[in-house]
Amino acid sequence: MITAMMDALKCIYSKREVRDFLDKEVPEDVIIRILEAGRLAGSAKNRQPWDFILVKDRQRLRELSRFGNHAEHVKKASFAVVITVRGDYFQDPFDAGRAAQNMMLAAHTLGVGSCPVTLHDEEGARSFLEVPEDRRIQVCIAFGYPRGVERRGKVRRKPLEEVLHRERW
Ligand SMILES: Cc1cc2nc3c(=O)[nH]c(=O)nc-3n(C[C@H](O)[C@H](O)[C@H](O)COP(=O)(O)O)c2cc1C
Repeated sequence: MITAMMDALKCIYSKREVRDFLDKEVPEDVIIRILEAGRLAGSAKNRQPWDFILVKDRQRLRELSRFGNHAEHVKKASFAVVITVRGDYFQDPFDAGRAAQNMMLAAHTLGVGSCPVTLHDEEGARSFLEVPEDRRIQVCIAFGYPRGVERRGKVRRKPLEEVLHRERW
């Protein structure tokens, strides 16, 4: 059952990657809410260039992890979502990123942890997932309930004054 959700700013500011998951299934209705957040993302010219491949089967999650160089956490995820894009428009990767972040923030507010995963062996992953020729894999995201209390160390981000330029560079 879904209970109170955190406010939007708290959700955005506190999102950290989770790579250690409980052996606990995320219910289908929660998965659908997460996927809906991705589907509802805006995109350039409203092209919605994405498709989402949901992988829940434990054996397939183990096999999927083989296609990334840093993808151990996929093995223990409750589910993974692979985002594919049409890839014939330069803004497609940006749009996929918007869908990905929407899903990860929705998951976070529903108590589900997540971490993006690069599938370095894209060709291997394409074949494994039977992705059509005209689509490319943008990113995979591993999802699951976090194991234990998340470590809250110093947030490793550049300070705003280092990245913010006003009026001109
Ligand atoms: C496009 C993208 C690909 C990523 N690929 C991986 C990956 O293959 N394996 C992994 O462990 N983390 C991956 N990450 C997670 C980053 O390492 C993480 O976002 C960054 O280190 C910040 O982590 P933090 O929020 O815990 O500070 C990826 C993140 C992005 C945005």
